[in-house]
Amino acid sequence: MSTTQTRQVTKAIFPVAGLGTRFLPATKANPKEMLPIVDKPLIQYAVEEAIAAGITELIFVTSSSKRAIEDHFDSNFELESNLIERGKLDLLEIVRDILPAGVSCAYIRQQSPRGLGHAVLCARQLIGDEPFAVLLADDLIDGADGGSCLQQMVAAYAMCGGSLLAVQSIARSESAKYGIIAPTPASAQQTLLSLSGIVEKPQPAAAPSTLAVVGRYILAPRIFDFLAATAVGSGGEIQLTDAIAALLQREPVHALRFTGKRYDCGSKLGYLQATLVYAMKHPEVADDFREYLQEFVACQK
Ligand code: UTP
Repeated sequence: MSTTQTRQVTKAIFPVAGLGTRFLPATKANPKEMLPIVDKPLIQYAVEEAIAAGITELIFVTSSSKRAIEDHFDSNFELESNLIERGKLDLLEIVRDILPAGVSCAYIRQQSPRGLGHAVLCARQLIGDEPFAVLLADDLIDGADGGSCLQQMVAAYAMCGGSLLAVQSIARSESAKYGIIAPTPASAQQTLLSLSGIVEKPQPAAAPSTLAVVGRYILAPRIFDFLAATAVGSGGEIQLTDAIAALLQREPVHALRFTGKRYDCGSKLGYLQATLVYAMKHPEVADDFREYLQEFVACQK
């Protein structure tokens, strides 16, 4: 196999089996990943990002309460017939075009929510021996002109290989919410950094940097060996961060400071911010929404 072939990423894992407790009660019966930003569920934004970056095999790690995700990416004969009968062909196109031809979906169950690392490990048999992407749909990333976050990562990965994490700068006081990387001194100021360490949710004083991992990864298949050997860590869960820390003792792991804005849609505030920004860009509602917002802000003064 040539180097270029081994660096091609065509499979992506979408771990969607978390409990979404920060968003209760909305997530009691509905998956967090189905929360809409304007008119599209979070998971569809992540899937579109993956497909635009060249992914053709989508692997969802689900739980018993996440059937809605499977249904969303399946065809809905009754709805489609109804739209045809009523001549609503524009809407028909919207529901039919959710997945383009040539893209396949597979679903695998995580029996209990034992953490992100465990969710990724559940997909091992479907990945085999090739690098793969992981996208956390509750991290909605609005890419810049240089492409979506995963597109930027795929381009960087073609150069660096190994494994690659997306990182952003955070306030040190926020470190206990994230996996925080330790870049090598030589790469610390670069866009593409080499890792010498990574730690899950450190307290600010112990954080090795202020560069936090967000929900986009390209991982070498060797990560599965380390995930299988990883003990329960922070929060009583099997942490992907702990397996990455072990992996980087054996092979290179890089981090990319991507260009774009990330919204933590697993939190109420992040979700509201994303809704506002995406509404301001939505062709159908942007003008009216902006006008409403201006009136609203003026009334508050
Ligand atoms: P989060 O850390 O956001 O956890 O998971 P959560 O349980 O979904 O949400 P809160 O913190 O209780 O509000 C990050 C991603 O990993 C998935 C989640 O679905 C989410 O996409 N995940 C997490 C799993 O698939 N399985 C798990 O056991 C844990």
